[in-house]
Amino acid sequence: MSALSLTFDTQRLAEKYEELSSDRQFKQGKWLIEELNLVPEERVLDVGCGTGLLAEHVADIVGPSGFVVGVDPLPLRIAIANRKAKSNLVFRVGNAYDLTEFGENSFDAVYLNAVFHWLAEKEEPLQHIRRVLKSGGRLGLTTGSKEHPNRLLQIRREILSKEPYNAFPESRSGYPHWVSVAELVWLLDRNGFSISKVEVLENVIHHANADAAIDFSQASSFGNFLGHLPDELRKSAIAEIKQALEALRTSDGIRLEGRRIVAVAVRK
Ligand SMILES: C[S@@+](CC[C@H](N)C(=O)[O-])C[C@H]1O[C@@H](n2cnc3c(N)ncnc32)[C@H](O)[C@@H]1O
Repeated sequence: MSALSLTFDTQRLAEKYEELSSDRQFKQGKWLIEELNLVPEERVLDVGCGTGLLAEHVADIVGPSGFVVGVDPLPLRIAIANRKAKSNLVFRVGNAYDLTEFGENSFDAVYLNAVFHWLAEKEEPLQHIRRVLKSGGRLGLTTGSKEHPNRLLQIRREILSKEPYNAFPESRSGYPHWVSVAELVWLLDRNGFSISKVEVLENVIHHANADAAIDFSQASSFGNFLGHLPDELRKSAIAEIKQALEALRTSDGIRLEGRRIVAVAVRK
């Protein structure tokens, strides 16, 4: 199992995430939110809210009589999210592995947008979410698909599996904890959810250049993309990754293909 670190985040990465995710994770998240059919007055929990763009959108949907809470373990991201706080929208440093600050049956809906693949162990968070959801409450999530790995992460893995990078265990294991559709269905069922929808959607991103692709990965992974490497090795890994990315250049920029899984389930 890879050692995901919550200590690599920086102010620059957090600000970059706010900027870059508005065209990516935020757009995918809006699609997920539509699938949750939220209505005014509902109470919603955003687990792994990042810089809070999607939670802000959800607060507008549930309106002044509704309520949205966003939790994320990264204080720098919560500081940016807090700029969006208002009477029906609050943010807290928090973690999917410990939602005990919320009472049983507190929420009509819980969602994790681009978060589930960061959770090394999935059942504990699902049990927490089940506890805080009302009976019949909805869970929505988008996550990377194990069956369709992102090309950039494949390139990263190929390069880091060689010397000298492979002296670091994190280089050998890769970092996101992706699931297959079958694993996700099994996990949801086993943890007390009945599935309303599971879809695998195409996820194609065009980056202006290799630097932009690497910037996006560093910000989205809160530094885990190459954060485990010492400075000099990180620089040489970036140079090798950039060279490999150039081979994917099209007239629209560097094309990276992947798939994401979108799931909606109901608490039994
Ligand atoms: C790609 S970002 C997605 C942020 C946000 N949901 C969005 O749609 O923009 C992944 C987020 O997962 C969060 N995360 C990682 N481990 C987590 C955990 N154990 N509990 C909750 N969130 C976690 C990270 O801090 C990061 O903000």
